Amino acid sequence: MKIQIREYQNSDYDVCLALSRELAQHHAGIYGDPAIARGDSVKWLDGLLKRNGYVGMWLAEVGGQTAGFAGLFSYGEEGEIEPVVVASAFRNRGIGTKLIRHVVAEAGKSKVRFLSIRPVARNKEALALFVRLGFNLVGHVELFQDLSPKSDRKWKSGITIHGKELKY
Ligand SMILES: CC(C)(COP(=O)(O)OP(=O)(O)OC[C@H]1O[C@@H](n2cnc3c(N)ncnc32)[C@H](O)[C@@H]1OP(=O)(O)O)[C@@H](O)C(=O)NCCC(=O)NCCS
Repeated sequence: MKIQIREYQNSDYDVCLALSRELAQHHAGIYGDPAIARGDSVKWLDGLLKRNGYVGMWLAEVGGQTAGFAGLFSYGEEGEIEPVVVASAFRNRGIGTKLIRHVVAEAGKSKVRFLSIRPVARNKEALALFVRLGFNLVGHVELFQDLSPKSDRKWKSGITIHGKELKY
């Protein structure tokens, strides 16, 4: 299977929007919260394309079909890969690996020294892939409280940081 990586063009907007919706769907699935999938993906993608630090986005194509995309942002020495999404029909065939390696190489051409990627802690498959691809340093840890009056989310036990039991 030949995977080609190419730079985003304006005409790719709709396919990236469909992939953004798949990403929201994926998060809705892992949190068991359909409200996540009802989020405004147009606003999300537009915000991404206009966000400060935008370096570029790249698409993975297989047999002329867009299978996924990934973006790169840079803020001086710090860079971030956001998002990475591969369409569900194309997962587990090495496309995410190739996309991420490509974006890492793009970051390597810039001033970026510290390149991050921020999966939600419950996204175990994505975490496994990112660690395998060399993202094995932990920077900031984002801690939060669920203040919703009746929390719909069931938080899971099983993460320990510096001996502290946390939920995810
Ligand atoms: C996370 C995501 C981008 C990975 O994309 P992908 O194309 O499935 O990634 P890969 O195929 O390269 O790797 C996935 C697994 O398939 C395996 N794999 C790679 N090439 C393979 C091949 N040719 N055949 C079979 N398996 C393969 C990899 O070893 C990997 O397993 P591992 O992480 O346990 O080592 C994709 O699952 C996705 O879009 N998920 C939903 C959105 C999401 O969670 N995005 C990340 C948010 S930060």
